[in-house]
Amino acid sequence: MTHLGDPTPGSDTRLPPRAWLRSDAPVQSLDGDWAFLLHDADPGDDLDGPPPFAAVDADASGWDRIPVPSHWGLRGHGHPTYTNIRYPFPLDPPHVPDANPTGDHRRVFEWHPDFCAGGRTLLRFEGVESLATVWLNGTEIGWFTGSRLMTEFDVTDHLVDGENVLAVRVHQWSAASYLEDQDQWWLPGIFRSVSLQGRPANGLDDVFVRGDRDPATGAGTLDVRPRGGWPVTVRVPELGIDETWADATEVAMLPLDAVDAWTAETPRLYDVEVSTEAETVRLRVGFRRIEIIGDRLLADGRPLIFRGVNRHETDPDRGRVFDEDYVRGELALMRRHNITAIRTAHQPPHPRMLELADELGFWVVLECDLETHGFWDVEWTGNPADDPAWRDACLDRVRRTVERDKNHASVVMWSLGNESGTGRNLAEMAGWIRERDDSRPIHYEGDYGGAYTDVYSRMYPTIEEVASVCGEQTMPVHEIGPAEGARQRAKPFVLCEFAHAMGNGPGSLADYEALVEQYPRLHGGFVWEWRDHGIRTRAADGTEFFAYGGDFGEPVHDGVYLMDGLVLSDGTPSPGLGELAAVWAPVTLEHLGERSWRVRNRQHTLGTDHLELHWRIEDDGIRLTDGIVALPALAPGEEGTVEVPLDGLPDAATERWLTLEVRWRDAPPWGDAGHIVSRAQRPLRAAPPCPPRRGRATWDGDALGEAVFDRRGGLLRWRDLDISGPLPELWRAPTENDQLDGQGSYETADPALTHGRGDESTPASSVRWLERGLDRLQHRVLSVERTDDGLVQRVRSMAAHSAQGIETTFAWRLDGDGLRLHTDIRPFGPWDCTWPRVGARIGLPGALADERVEWFGTGPAESYADSGEAAYVGRFEAAVDDLGVAYGRPQETGHRPGLRALDLGPLHLRAIDAGATGLPGFQLDRHTAQERTGVGHAHELPPSRGLWLYLDAAQHGLGSRACGPDVLPRYALWPRAVSWTVVFG
Ligand code: GAL
Repeated sequence: MTHLGDPTPGSDTRLPPRAWLRSDAPVQSLDGDWAFLLHDADPGDDLDGPPPFAAVDADASGWDRIPVPSHWGLRGHGHPTYTNIRYPFPLDPPHVPDANPTGDHRRVFEWHPDFCAGGRTLLRFEGVESLATVWLNGTEIGWFTGSRLMTEFDVTDHLVDGENVLAVRVHQWSAASYLEDQDQWWLPGIFRSVSLQGRPANGLDDVFVRGDRDPATGAGTLDVRPRGGWPVTVRVPELGIDETWADATEVAMLPLDAVDAWTAETPRLYDVEVSTEAETVRLRVGFRRIEIIGDRLLADGRPLIFRGVNRHETDPDRGRVFDEDYVRGELALMRRHNITAIRTAHQPPHPRMLELADELGFWVVLECDLETHGFWDVEWTGNPADDPAWRDACLDRVRRTVERDKNHASVVMWSLGNESGTGRNLAEMAGWIRERDDSRPIHYEGDYGGAYTDVYSRMYPTIEEVASVCGEQTMPVHEIGPAEGARQRAKPFVLCEFAHAMGNGPGSLADYEALVEQYPRLHGGFVWEWRDHGIRTRAADGTEFFAYGGDFGEPVHDGVYLMDGLVLSDGTPSPGLGELAAVWAPVTLEHLGERSWRVRNRQHTLGTDHLELHWRIEDDGIRLTDGIVALPALAPGEEGTVEVPLDGLPDAATERWLTLEVRWRDAPPWGDAGHIVSRAQRPLRAAPPCPPRRGRATWDGDALGEAVFDRRGGLLRWRDLDISGPLPELWRAPTENDQLDGQGSYETADPALTHGRGDESTPASSVRWLERGLDRLQHRVLSVERTDDGLVQRVRSMAAHSAQGIETTFAWRLDGDGLRLHTDIRPFGPWDCTWPRVGARIGLPGALADERVEWFGTGPAESYADSGEAAYVGRFEAAVDDLGVAYGRPQETGHRPGLRALDLGPLHLRAIDAGATGLPGFQLDRHTAQERTGVGHAHELPPSRGLWLYLDAAQHGLGSRACGPDVLPRYALWPRAVSWTVVFG
C-alpha cells in the first residue's frame, strides 16, 4: 500500500514522540554502509504487500552502496533541486507526480535478544526526507513523514536472533512535501542516524525537565516529569538534590534556595540524573525564566534582545547531514562575531546542535518543520495550514518538535513554522504547545493579527515600519486593521528575518541596531541568513565551484537565491559578518572629548571584568605607542567613562589615529585570549597638506620626465610600469541587492504615499542602470592640453542614445613628489537614476595581480556607504586576489574607501585629502566591472586581460533589496560632481 497521497503523518505503529535523551540503555547504530537502488519513479510494486526488495531473501548484490546518513543526490544518484517558494511539482494536494525519485535502502544487521534482555527494542529514525516505509524481515513495520523529525517503532516482535533485514523505501515527494516548502535544497534520503534503542523493562521512556529561576530572589525550582517505570530518583549533586518518588502521585517541583542562571552569556548548566532501577538518563539543565511582561520579553528578569541569525543546516558536501566538529565550529564562529541567538530556520536541527547551543550559549527560537509558502501563489487556496485534512499532520509535527527538544535551556521560544499563511491548524498547534509547555512564548510570523502567538514578528520591515510599530504610529500595521494593530503593538516586537545577506551586503545593519537601541519594545532580530547553501561541484574541466539552483539541470528552480548567507558556502566569513560583529558590539565606545570615552555595557548578563581596553596610536598607520587600560566595572545596561592616556606624543608630519579595542583578557570558550569584541577610532591629527612641489622635467616628445602619454592624453607608462587609462567609469557589476526588487525602492518614492516602503513599481537598480547604459559608456576626448609640467585631458562620457553623461577632467602634473593626477567629474543632462559608482579605471600589467598589495586606508575588508561599521583606518596587506570576495555569483566586491597610500610591486600611489576633495576608494580586480556582469559563476569569467585599478570618489550603498528594503536615500549615490587627487610616486 502506498502512502504517497496521504495527508496523515504516518502509520499508527509510530510510537508517541519523546525527548532525545542520553540514556544508559543499550543502543546499536545502524549507520554505515547500506545497499541502495534509485528508481526514477515509484516502482508501483508495493500495492499488494511488501515490495520484492523487502523480502528477506531478496538479492541486492547488484545494488549500489550508500552511506547512511546521507542524501542520495549528493552521492552520485540523481541530484539536488532548489526552489524557494515554488513547489517543483504541480499544486495538486495531497498528490505528487508519478515521476517520484524513490530510493530503496537495505541493510542486514545482527541482533540478539540479549541486546536488551527482558525489554523492548525500538527502531529509531532521526531524519528521513520525505516519506519512508519500513519493512523488517519482510514485514511492514510502518511509514512516516516529517523529514526533520524523529520517529520510533517498537520492532521487538519482528526481530530475530541473528541476521535481520531492514528495508526502507524513501520517496522524494509525498503529501508531506506540501508541508516542507522551505527555501532550501530538496534533498531526499536517510540523512540522520538510524539506530536500535533498547528499552529496558521499567525504564524511563521520557522525561521533561525544566529549570526555573526567580530573577528577583535567585531561588529556583526543578520540574522533572518522568514517564515510564517507578520508582524514579532525581539527583543533582551540585544542588544537593537526591529525591526518590515511588510513583506519579509523589512527583513534585523541587525547590532550590539559590541557583545560578543560565543565559546565553553565562551558559551555566547543572548535571541532572534521572533514573529508575533499570535506566539512567543524564541531562544538562539550565535555570532561567522566560516571560513576557507588558510589551517586554524578559530572560532572567532582563530584556532578551535577539542578536541572531537564521541558521539552516547546510554543508557543501554533506547537505543536511550532521557533523559535530563542523557545527561546533559554526557556533563558535557566531559567538566570535557577537551573535548570541539562532532561529532554527525553518525546521528543528540535529538534536546535538541544541546541546551545543546550551553549552556555548545561544537564545534559540526553535522552529517546527512546516512551510507551505507555495500556496501564497494561489492566494492560499487549499493551504494545508488551514485545511482540516491536514490537521493531524500539523499537530503531529509540532508535538514531535516540542517533545524532542523540550529539555534545552537554550530554547526560549517555540515557532510554529514559517510562511504557511494562517489558519486553524496553526492556531491548534499553538494551543497544543500552551497546554504542554507554558514556559516558553510562541512565535509565528504569519499570525499577522496576533490571534494565537505571543510576540509580534515581522520579516524585512523597513526602518519606518519598525519605528511606526514601536514609536510614533505613522503607518497602519502590516496587513491588519487598527484593532488587531493595537494588539500587536502591545506585544514584544521581533524581526524574525531582516537584512538579507545575499551576495555583497547587507547594508544598513547599523540603522536597524539603532532602532533596537531606541525602542525597548523591539527585541532585536535574526539576519537572513547564516550561510550560503552552495554545493561543492566540479565543472566539466574539473574546476571546483559551488552550485546553486539550476546547476543540476532542474527545470524549475530559483537560481542563486539560496546563496544569501553571512558565511560563504566554503565557510569563509563574508565582510557582512564582520559588519554584523561591529554593529552588535556587546560594549560600545563613544568619544566624549579629549581623552575621555563613554563605555556602555550592552550585554544581557555579563559585566565588564573579563574585558580590557587596548589602545594604540598610529602615525600613517605605523604604531607609535600602545597600552592597556582597565574598563570600569559595569553591570549590564550601565555606562561609565574611561580615560585614554595621550601624553608625551611626539610631533610629526603624519596622519595620526587613536584606535581602541575591547578584548577578552582570557580565552572565551569559543575563541582565543585577546578576542576583540568592539573597536572605535578617532583621528588625532589630519594628514599634513601636500601642495605640489615644482618638478624639473620638461616635455621630450610624448615623455614628461618618466611619464609617457599618448596623443589623446592617456598615460602609457610611468617609470617601469605600463599603464593604460584612466577611463571614467560609472558601472559596477550589480550585486544581488542591485539586481533584485524584493521590496520597493526609495529612488522615486514619495514617502507620504508609500508609507516609507518605497515605490513598488521602481525596477531594480541594475535594471534602471542598464536601461540608461551605465555599463557601456562611450568616451570622447574633448581636448588635450599640454602645459609646462603636465597635461590636461577632458573627456565626455555618455551611453548610446542618451543625452546625459559626465564630463571628466584628468589634470596631470609632474612635481617633486611624482606624477600627480587630479580628477574632476561633473554630471550633465537629465539624469534620473542613481549611479553604481563614480570613478576612473586604470589598466595595469596582469602580472601585478600575483603580487601582494599593501595599503594605508580603510580595511581590512571591503566597505560601502551603508556598511562601514567594521572598517577602520590602518595599514593593511593582502594578496590581490584576496581583496575581493568569492560571492556565490561574480558581482561588485572589494571597494575600500578612504585610500591614503597603496604599494603594489612597482606601483606606489598616494591619495591627497585636500579639503572638499575627498580621498578616493580603491579596488583591484583581474576583471572589469563589465566582464563581471551577468556571469553565473567565477569559473565562467572570461580570461583576464590585465589588472584593473579602480579609484572611486563614491559608490552606491548596498541595501537589502534582494528581499528587503532598498538602499536608504542617505546612502544612495545620486549624480554629483566629485574630484580627488592621487600621486604616482
Ligand atoms: C523569507 C523566507 C526565507 C527566505 C527569505 C529569502 O521570506 O522566510 O525562508 O526565503 O525570505 O531569502
